[in-house]
Amino acid sequence: MQFSTIATLSALFFTAAAGVQAAPSAHAASHHNVAARSPGSLHHKLSARDASSPLAQAAHNVAKKRAKRTQKKCRLRPTSSLSATAAPTSTSGSSSGSVSGTVSSTSNVTSTNAGSSAQPSSTPSTQTFNTPWSLEVKNQGRTFFDGWTFWNAPDPTHGTVNYVDAGTAWNTGLISVTDTQAIMRVSTEQYQHMRQSVRIHGKHVFNINSLLVMDAEHMPTGCGTWPAWWANGPNWPAGGEIDILEGVHDSDTNSATLHTSYGCTAVSDANHPSSGQLINANCGSSGSSNTGCGFADVTSQNTYGAGFNSAKGGVYAMQWVDSGISVWFFPRGAIPADLAADQPMPWTWQHPFAHWSASGCSPRDFFRDQIAIFDTTFCGDWAGATWGSSGCAQKTGFESCERYVRENGSAFSEAYWTVNYVKYFKQ
Ligand SMILES: *[C@@H]1O[C@H](CO)[C@@H](O)[C@H](O)[C@H]1NC(C)=O
Ligand SMILES: *[C@@H]1O[C@H](CO)[C@@H](O)[C@H](O)[C@H]1NC(C)=O
Repeated sequence: MQFSTIATLSALFFTAAAGVQAAPSAHAASHHNVAARSPGSLHHKLSARDASSPLAQAAHNVAKKRAKRTQKKCRLRPTSSLSATAAPTSTSGSSSGSVSGTVSSTSNVTSTNAGSSAQPSSTPSTQTFNTPWSLEVKNQGRTFFDGWTFWNAPDPTHGTVNYVDAGTAWNTGLISVTDTQAIMRVSTEQYQHMRQSVRIHGKHVFNINSLLVMDAEHMPTGCGTWPAWWANGPNWPAGGEIDILEGVHDSDTNSATLHTSYGCTAVSDANHPSSGQLINANCGSSGSSNTGCGFADVTSQNTYGAGFNSAKGGVYAMQWVDSGISVWFFPRGAIPADLAADQPMPWTWQHPFAHWSASGCSPRDFFRDQIAIFDTTFCGDWAGATWGSSGCAQKTGFESCERYVRENGSAFSEAYWTVNYVKYFKQ
């Protein structure tokens, strides 16, 4: 797909009928082993993805035009600074036994603690589910952050953000834990040139035959925000990127998106239907488009933002198996008993809202060595480019997303994650 004009770009960002915004590109070539690559090759990859692609350029131009109108300079950062500062993630690729939260296999056992802390009111289940899936790693409560490294290089998606290291995150209260939850905030200091936030990369590297499950009670929302819960492989886009929960501003609809190298396509599969709405079929990010192939969850309620939070969130599950990749959302109160008992039986669940069939995209060829990532950025390639069209300019009275983020920290008190757990299952 070619994106030759700003008009095409705008049309793509907003599918007016559904109110769905398509991501121009999710997140950049950031992975646990980038530090192992030469700075030159990293620079090349990031340039190709973030600065040189026509879509990113078009988004950049939109931002630039707007910036000119308000006498502001466009802040697209030179990618060279990335190659110089990408080192902090170098330890995260470790697959040694030191990964915190590793648990022994619990497949086929009788659970006496089905709901765990996520569902305090539910009756403990003693049911046994016959499933090939077993829990491999769990991040939860006081030890949650032991399972992650902190990215504190510049944002590859050019956000008005300062991703802080773990020490700063603890010391400033941007992250905190309770017995049952982990919280990731952004700074609400009124003025910050680059607003402080966190981006964390899972230490656990996973491959095909994985089921990644995340339970959150609250997610970041509000004008200027661009949060995401996603997974990424090495050597972007060759290792593949799986965006599970992502959106911008005050959206109420989640979309899940794949970004791959050339040749992967989202196709419909009668045996594995998707309940969501396909936004774009071409997943390949090489060449002229970084849009990726996304499904918007248009049939479920409260999948994103303020609605998600008012309903106390729910569970996102991403299955990566030979038949394809699937993403489900279960609102609080509708979480399958087998999943709550850590004995998931995905084949018994409702249709996923997103399913990318192996017939259009080989899950073995286009994806490998994934790590899970949480981040909250601001403005940048997606939220910045849609500031006007999202209604946020009018709503906030700020003509520039960047200025709003810099000058009005009090507006970001809802831009936080409250995570009940992240679980990695394998079969
Ligand atoms: C697993 O559960 C099934 C019943 O759901 C039972 O038939 C089977 O023997 C169990 N396997 C093990 C190893 O306990
Ligand atoms: C900051 O944002 C909040 C929430 O949108 C708004 O109520 C307030 O008026 C804003 N403050 C300034 C100085 O613009």
